[in-house]
Amino acid sequence: MDRTLVLVKPDGVQRGLIGEIISRLERRGLKIVGMKLMQVSGELANRHYGEHEGKPFFAGLVGFITSGPIVAMAIEGNNVVGLVRTTVGETNPADSAPGTIRGDLGVDIGRNLIHGSDSDESAKRELSLFFTEGELVDYSRDTDPWIIEA
Ligand code: RTP
Ligand code: MG
Repeated sequence: MDRTLVLVKPDGVQRGLIGEIISRLERRGLKIVGMKLMQVSGELANRHYGEHEGKPFFAGLVGFITSGPIVAMAIEGNNVVGLVRTTVGETNPADSAPGTIRGDLGVDIGRNLIHGSDSDESAKRELSLFFTEGELVDYSRDTDPWIIEA
């Protein structure tokens, strides 16, 4: 089963959009298997965004993600990496279609509310930074047959 990492970034928490964002993921039918509110340290931010080190926006990105609490979530399901990315929208909210989280709730690339892993490999790496295996819960939902054809 695939898994991905979602972060409600500090702007989403500060703007009171945690519930709105989680609702959109839940309404799509996505299954949350781990969740916590936490403060990201500089070290964790550097590791999470390591691929962007050296880019002009890197310092701002690390400063932003450590600027206040975030909500980290692990989401599980077939093709869940892609499903989350289409629900999230484009990197820049200005380019994101209405109906997506960034397209409905944001306007600026540096305040784009939510992170979703961009590949299965990234998801594995990022999930291991934010969660221990013991923090992820294995369960089934009675609604699954109404969301996914067996
Ligand atoms: P994320 O990792 O946060 O889910 O976003 P993403 O995959 O859509 O975008 P990514 O390329 O991984 O970039 C990570 C974050 O860096 C900021 N960014 N700024 N000013 C710029 O050109 C620029 N490019 C990227 C964004 O906040 C983006 O979410
Ligand atoms: Mg990314």
